Amino acid sequence: MINKKVELAIINQIEVEGYSSQLYLSMASWCDVNGYAGAAKFLYQQTEEERMHMLKFIHHLNERAGHALISALKQPDHEFKSINNVFDLVQKHEQFVTNSINNLMDICSSEKDYTTANFLQWFVNEQIEEEATVQTILDKIKLLGKDKEASFFMMDKELEVMAIAKIAAAAAAVKAKP
Ligand code: FEO
Repeated sequence: MINKKVELAIINQIEVEGYSSQLYLSMASWCDVNGYAGAAKFLYQQTEEERMHMLKFIHHLNERAGHALISALKQPDHEFKSINNVFDLVQKHEQFVTNSINNLMDICSSEKDYTTANFLQWFVNEQIEEEATVQTILDKIKLLGKDKEASFFMMDKELEVMAIAKIAAAAAAVKAKP
């Protein structure tokens, strides 16, 4: 039986991951209707990954004889100032998620739930990767030249390539499962 404090913290994290999925879906939709097809593809894929994160927490909690409760989610913003603004907000959101995972890890340590702490290690590594990816995108946006339109077009193409690589990696991970 899982510790009650850990259970409540995981239920909170299920909400965080569910909201992340909705937020990136809203951003993807904005990119879609504003001509950023590559960024949209990248963010639609990110939406799937966040849903997968949410499901991992749900399965972990239910397997430990807890009950994964599903919360109502607040509506994400649906208007953004620019593509730069979208990825600035992605970065802020990922930093928030990292803090939330670290907080969950603290609770696991103080409650001596080493099984959940071990399970969480995957998320600790995932957050390092997610923050690094968004930092790379923001660095590249900053380096865009004077011809913003052409530069954003190139950047959008690059995001499409990144999205295709992410989709291939996700498919390979599913295939590799026993
Ligand atoms: Fe599941 Fe991007 O945090």
